[in-house]
Amino acid sequence: MSSVPSTMKAVSFSKTGGPDVLEYNESAPVPEPKDGEVLVKNNFAGINYIDTYFRSGLYPAQFPFIPGQEASGTIAKVQGDNPLGFKEGDRVVWIKVGGYAEYTAVAADRVIKIPQGVSDEDAVGSFLMGMTALSLIKEAYPVKKGETILVHAAAGGMGLLLTQLLRDFGCTVIGTAGGPEKCALAKENGAHHVIDYKASSGPTWVEQVLKLTNGEGVDCTYDGVGKDTYEGSLEVAKRKSKVVYYGSASGAVPPINIARLTAKNTSIMRSTLMGYIVTRKELEYYANGVLDLVKDGKLKIKLHKVYPLAEAKQAQEDLEGRRTTGKLLLKL
Ligand SMILES: NC(=O)c1ccc[n+]([C@@H]2O[C@H](COP(=O)([O-])OP(=O)(O)OC[C@H]3O[C@@H](n4cnc5c(N)ncnc54)[C@H](OP(=O)(O)O)[C@@H]3O)[C@@H](O)[C@H]2O)c1
Repeated sequence: MSSVPSTMKAVSFSKTGGPDVLEYNESAPVPEPKDGEVLVKNNFAGINYIDTYFRSGLYPAQFPFIPGQEASGTIAKVQGDNPLGFKEGDRVVWIKVGGYAEYTAVAADRVIKIPQGVSDEDAVGSFLMGMTALSLIKEAYPVKKGETILVHAAAGGMGLLLTQLLRDFGCTVIGTAGGPEKCALAKENGAHHVIDYKASSGPTWVEQVLKLTNGEGVDCTYDGVGKDTYEGSLEVAKRKSKVVYYGSASGAVPPINIARLTAKNTSIMRSTLMGYIVTRKELEYYANGVLDLVKDGKLKIKLHKVYPLAEAKQAQEDLEGRRTTGKLLLKL
């Protein structure tokens, strides 16, 4: 472990609030891996909306808290038994917590080797979000060829991956996005129809979805926007269809009265990736599924921007300010 320093650059917070609570520190302690963990020298960390939920207090965090659910880099140290056979220098991508830092100690069973031919940027750029997108279309609501699916925020990190996967699966994709540029990007990435749900005039997005589906509605909506769209998502649900809520970009979905589901026998669910990758086998299934798609050129990762670690605050402001498309990364 001689090449591992005792301190590192990291971003953390010790109270909840806006992006200002994020603190950049150049002498944070490098974590010591426990038995069954590996120490990863991170190269790129992924930024995800969930990072802002921990920071704002929507999700509980223990202080000081280093955000970041994923990163790619190399193994710097293996501690204890090593049934998965990791070696120092292996290129890996991981999912856990503490990615806004140069080093992270991660349970070895949450670490996946990056296949040859996949860059560190694409590995982490596709990882958490790609696995989520696959879990949404395979398990939360297993889509069928020919179905019509609504994807909200279709030009976002999740949205661009979902639209590509759904198009390639043979679904008709209706995407919503805020503004003409985002709409154009969603279309380029596979949405058959795009609706600017921020437009100040003309029919509402709900009216437009109903018109596009001859008044019937869609087979499934994947709704990661939450508070601002959850009601409309129920309104555009086809008879016997499903609405999958999977995020809160505009705020959390409030409690829904179950009686509202009666008229069309609508199903609803709240989905989280973490519930689909509990076992090593499940993680490998989704991780290798995504990394293989990237390696084969079947899933394109659109990077919005790679920010230096010291600009993590700016990155979160941009994400929450709806100024981004695709994936945001931090360079460690
Ligand atoms: N359940 C899971 O396991 C899981 C995993 C990954 C991500 N997610 C969820 O997926 C969603 C998307 O995540 P992402 O990281 O890919 O973000 P993103 O979609 O790239 O960014 C969020 C987008 O949401 C839209 N939006 C609508 N109303 C908004 C508001 N009031 N404030 C901010 N944004 C608003 C904006 O797009 P427009 O300008 O086009 O409206 C914005 O760009 C989030 O809710 C996230 O929590 C869930």
